[in-house]
Amino acid sequence: MALHQVFLVFLAFGLAVFAQSEFQHVFEKSNKQPGTIFHHPIQRVAVVGAGPAGLQAAAKLIEHNFTVRLFERAPHPGGKLALQRKLLRDEPTGTTDQIPAQLPTSRYHSEGDDGLTLKHRWTEHWRPRPVWYNLFTNSPKASTELPDVPYEPETPWVLSHHTIQRHVRSYATHHCLNSNDYCPRTPGAPRVTSYSTRVEKVEKDEETHTWVLTLRRLEQLPESNRLREEWWTETFDAVVLASGPYTSAHVPDIEGIVDWSKAREGEQYSIYHSQAYRHPERYAGKTVLIVGASVSASEIARDLGPFVHRIIASVRPPKVPRPPRLRSLSRFPNITEFVPEIASFEPLKSHAEGIRSGRIHLMNGSILQGVDEIILATGYRSHSLYPPNTTTRRPENISWTGHYVPDPTLAFTIGRPWTVGRYQSYGLAKVWEGSAPLPPPEQPPTEPNPGTGMWFPEAMFRQYITWLNDASLEHGGRFVEPLPIENVELLKYYAVVHFLNNTMSLDNIGLNSVSMFGKLEVEDPWDALADEGLDW
Ligand SMILES: Cc1cc2nc3c(=O)[nH]c(=O)nc-3n(C[C@H](O)[C@H](O)[C@H](O)COP(=O)(O)OP(=O)(O)OC[C@H]3O[C@@H](n4cnc5c(N)ncnc54)[C@H](O)[C@@H]3O)c2cc1C
Ligand SMILES: NC(=O)c1ccc[n+]([C@@H]2O[C@H](COP(=O)([O-])OP(=O)(O)OC[C@H]3O[C@@H](n4cnc5c(N)ncnc54)[C@H](OP(=O)(O)O)[C@@H]3O)[C@@H](O)[C@H]2O)c1
Ligand SMILES: *[C@@H]1O[C@H](CO)[C@@H](O)[C@H](O)[C@H]1NC(C)=O
Ligand SMILES: *[C@@H]1O[C@H](CO)[C@@H](O)[C@H](O)[C@H]1NC(C)=O
Ligand SMILES: *[C@@H]1O[C@H](CO)[C@@H](O)[C@H](O)[C@H]1NC(C)=O
Ligand SMILES: *[C@@H]1O[C@H](CO)[C@@H](O)[C@H](O)[C@H]1NC(C)=O
Ligand SMILES: *[C@@H]1O[C@H](CO)[C@@H](O)[C@H](O)[C@H]1NC(C)=O
Ligand SMILES: *[C@@H]1O[C@H](CO)[C@@H](O)[C@H](O)[C@H]1NC(C)=O
Repeated sequence: MALHQVFLVFLAFGLAVFAQSEFQHVFEKSNKQPGTIFHHPIQRVAVVGAGPAGLQAAAKLIEHNFTVRLFERAPHPGGKLALQRKLLRDEPTGTTDQIPAQLPTSRYHSEGDDGLTLKHRWTEHWRPRPVWYNLFTNSPKASTELPDVPYEPETPWVLSHHTIQRHVRSYATHHCLNSNDYCPRTPGAPRVTSYSTRVEKVEKDEETHTWVLTLRRLEQLPESNRLREEWWTETFDAVVLASGPYTSAHVPDIEGIVDWSKAREGEQYSIYHSQAYRHPERYAGKTVLIVGASVSASEIARDLGPFVHRIIASVRPPKVPRPPRLRSLSRFPNITEFVPEIASFEPLKSHAEGIRSGRIHLMNGSILQGVDEIILATGYRSHSLYPPNTTTRRPENISWTGHYVPDPTLAFTIGRPWTVGRYQSYGLAKVWEGSAPLPPPEQPPTEPNPGTGMWFPEAMFRQYITWLNDASLEHGGRFVEPLPIENVELLKYYAVVHFLNNTMSLDNIGLNSVSMFGKLEVEDPWDALADEGLDW
């Protein structure tokens, strides 16, 4: 009671001080609405993906007594930042077999069946991770953390992916969500997690108002050197799609690239997408052409710098001089030779001797020759599991809370920064248990790039917290605290050093050929973190 009173005073004060329209909007609405009512009470919830976002959603929904099932196609948690130590060539997606007509069903695969190795089937099920041995975060510790499992105080700001993986796995273990965990609170309760399980299809049954997931699990049977493939369906009242932003590699459609992609020297191909990059040693003494001007390009170039003979980077001018892009340009090692975008690859005489004698036509008419290896740091493609055939990470009409507006029993996770996950997952639990009304779907009008970038804007954090606490005041539940002020300050400091000050020294780094800069305008350093990818 006392807490409520204190909070009311705080709210009244807050309203007076921040007489901003979006805040009032939220307060007015929630005073009148009950919690959102669904067709039937929501009990069974599926979470797709055990990356940082999916794990946080699953943990919170379990805490709120939902019956949760967490599906992850990989054999362990961790999401995109978990390393898979396999140098795989980028394979196109779409090798998914047809869904069998009768479910459930099982089949067995032996080495060489249908011309596929067991290793191929196993890795295809969950794809190579775009993580290399010396990868460090491009977001500071303060925004790349999960609750309940704090980093050691002496952990540096910039984390190696090994540290990140341990952190994410610790979080999974802490919440009994790791691959072999089984900690039922009631005897006989179903397992929460299902690893090595790919969600192949998400459908809405309009009659029962439930979601039907078509699932496929692979299991290695070492004693008979076979793979068991199991297909089945499960039904849910609500679904969280936390399957991450990067479904497959984006390979640009440059004339001749398919021909060049067949070139190899011995076992190794000469062109790989950056998602297959692992170690710099393999490139020792070589001339490497990196295509792209973003984070993968600059960070792989830095990793290669001390080992290679030459680094050439093919970059095209950014359409807008955004801080993340400029930061990447400033981080290429100083031996980088920048060249314009590639126009075409001249057909090769042979595919057996690599690409060294091949001719690469640049947009400015020049020809580049003598390249040993090409790394396509050209980004990723996204697909959403629902609605069918959505070729962006998220369909249209997602509320800023992640709810799919036409049917808010479906939700998409936000992803970056990871710290937004604690608020989002609480919001999902509250809406589905009926202790919060759905907020108005519109984005707050004050943001220049409202919630569309990868980085959740600071003002949206404030809006989230206000909405959650307002709902708790009205309908019951725990109050949430904002991120610690010192973390926000650290984040802004990091943004200034990494994104703003760093990019002021871009003259004389050999980029004149691509002359690309406009004026960089950023009002708040937090906004400098707003990242690429408008379809995020
Ligand atoms: C090279 C690289 C470096 C990065 N560095 C950083 C960084 O420093 N800081 C940062 O904040 N972000 C970084 N990111 C972005 C990073 O991907 C996200 O921050 C983070 O992974 C988002 O978490 P998530 O849980 O939303 O998605 P993900 O981590 O991608 O997790 C999604 C999970 O869903 C699973 N999944 C997908 N589809 C299915 C399906 N159909 N069925 C079952 N499971 C499925 C995947 O296997 C995966 O485990 C980086 C990305 C890349 C590519
Ligand atoms: N922690 C880390 O250090 C780290 C490392 C790697 C990646 N990441 C994260 O992973 C995400 C993806 O990054 P990413 O660098 O892989 O992809 P990305 O940001 O999508 O960048 C792709 C780059 O390829 C360029 N490109 C595409 N087609 C091209 C073509 N035909 N010719 C020349 N250039 C072409 C794009 O140019 P345009 O801009 O002109 O389209 C862009 O510069 C980001 O969120 C990033 O933060 C983090
Ligand atoms: C979950 O159920 C337990 C046991 O019934 C109860 O004590 C707890 O308050 C519930 N949690 C929430 C968030 O409703
Ligand atoms: C280039 O970078 C290397 C290593 O970071 C440094 O030792 C060298 O002085 C730099 N050279 C120039 C010309 O800036
Ligand atoms: C094209 O760009 C390359 C690399 O910057 C440069 O060396 C060359 O002179 C340019 N060619 C023309 C015709 O401008
Ligand atoms: C999705 O695409 C597939 C293949 O192109 C097609 O068969 C199917 O009908 C499409 N589904 C919808 C709902 O558009
Ligand atoms: C999204 O919402 C707009 C406006 O309400 C509507 O016109 C559009 O059809 C919706 N799109 C989808 C895919 O639901
Ligand atoms: C960034 O640059 C500005 C202008 O040169 C300077 O005043 C400021 O101290 C720098 N900040 C940091 C954190 O380096």
